Amino acid sequence: MTEVRLQQWGDDGLETLRRANTPEMTAFLGGPESEQALVERHARYLRLWREGGARMFRIVTPDHPEGVGSIGTWPDGHHGSGAFETGWAVEAAHQGRGIATAALLAVLDDARATHGAVDVYAYPRVENAASNAICRKAGFVLVGEEPFEYPKGTWARSSVWVHRAEDTGAGA
Ligand SMILES: CC(C)(COP(=O)(O)OP(=O)(O)OC[C@H]1O[C@@H](n2cnc3c(N)ncnc32)[C@H](O)[C@@H]1OP(=O)(O)O)[C@@H](O)C(=O)NCCC(=O)NCCS
Repeated sequence: MTEVRLQQWGDDGLETLRRANTPEMTAFLGGPESEQALVERHARYLRLWREGGARMFRIVTPDHPEGVGSIGTWPDGHHGSGAFETGWAVEAAHQGRGIATAALLAVLDDARATHGAVDVYAYPRVENAASNAICRKAGFVLVGEEPFEYPKGTWARSSVWVHRAEDTGAGA
């Protein structure tokens, strides 16, 4: 598996968002966003780190310190208080090498190290085969399917995956 490291979202993260903003990469995420929306997303990621609301990271590899994608966790608004949600993207040129799976395992470690023994949910669209595959590979359990709103105003059927703290033995 490719060696990956998670780097706290920084001032230079906007380029990472721009590189992932292609029709191919956003096919299951509502399509490319406007430049203004990317600038706001970048500012939000920086602000949420400061406020302790979300922990977004750039995924870096030894050969690509500029980053190959993004991943993070934030409080989950769907399945009870205390749970977290995760989401991710790995640039098309770097896919198929286990990078997303390794990043997902790393972000789970970060969530448990930061918040203690929390459950972490993921909601990839049911037809998003690669994202469903990485959930399974990272040890998430499929607990259902439900309509999910993303982006705002767009509803799609999504898998409900959960990675339970007790599955890992991780704790506070
Ligand atoms: C989902 C995504 C992050 C995967 O990144 P990646 O680095 O290629 O992931 P990995 O290499 O760790 O694993 C991909 C797995 O998906 C599988 N896969 C890929 N495409 C597939 C397909 N069409 N059907 C079934 N499995 C597929 C691969 O075979 C691999 O599993 P394997 O190792 O058992 O063979 C990447 O495709 C992506 O960024 N997509 C766009 C963003 C997105 O949709 N994010 C979802 C937010 S919920």
